[in-house]
Amino acid sequence: MGQRKSVTVATLREMKRRGRRIVALTAYDCQMAALEDRAGVDVILVGDSLGMVVMGYETTLPVTVDEVVHHLRAVTAARPAALVVGDMPFMSYQAAPQDAVRNAGRLVKEGGAEAVKLEGGRRVEAALRAVVAADIPVMGHLGLTPQSIHRFGGYRVQGRGEDAARRLMEEAAFLQDVGCFALVLEGVPWRLAQRVTESLEIPTIGIGAGPHCDGQVLVVNDLLGMSDGFTPKFVRRYAELSGTIVEAVRAWAGDVRDGAFPDLEHSYDDDA
Ligand code: KIV
Repeated sequence: MGQRKSVTVATLREMKRRGRRIVALTAYDCQMAALEDRAGVDVILVGDSLGMVVMGYETTLPVTVDEVVHHLRAVTAARPAALVVGDMPFMSYQAAPQDAVRNAGRLVKEGGAEAVKLEGGRRVEAALRAVVAADIPVMGHLGLTPQSIHRFGGYRVQGRGEDAARRLMEEAAFLQDVGCFALVLEGVPWRLAQRVTESLEIPTIGIGAGPHCDGQVLVVNDLLGMSDGFTPKFVRRYAELSGTIVEAVRAWAGDVRDGAFPDLEHSYDDDA
């Protein structure tokens, strides 16, 4: 198979223009990034979901810039053709635009990200403008933005009702005007996501936002069935790896206990 051409923000714009759906997926380490890239994923997102998926935190709020940089370095070590987007964690951009630029810069310089993602619209305007002005491509994120969990009072679908829908449409237009190259729509009714998608020139990438977005993103561990916990309505599990992993480890542990592993075939001899 030939080398894939690198995906850039311009590629994504062109994909929307041509009506080609964008495939985005999270990854947090080098092996997974390489596998996703082999599978032809367009965008690899090192999401702050790493806090819950990798670190076992209850929310994404404790995630630090250092942690995102750490996982970005692992992902970009795979040298994927996919566009690598690094998530700006909670409080890395809200307090001051200088923080936003400095931290976005760290994701690019230290982590190797090619773009960053920020949650929110007008309320983070200064940060958005500052990062865009620093020539770092920004992916917006609206709807059920997990960093606003305490304001929402839980993981609730956003944009229900005409007022909320209108506000979200306005925020989406604002993000396009500010210079975002794409917009993640999370946890919003599918009709609203469709309206937003049709109203924008930049691509929308949905998660729990129905089938009419320009692309889709999922947390890779959900797609692969890696956890035994709660699976949100919008997730389809394409594998059941948690069961496969437990079975494999159990089989190996049994062989170790029975003395069946390692056998001589899996042992070094005196000669080469
Ligand atoms: O953190 C993350 O993985 C995300 C995606 C689920 C959109 O923000």
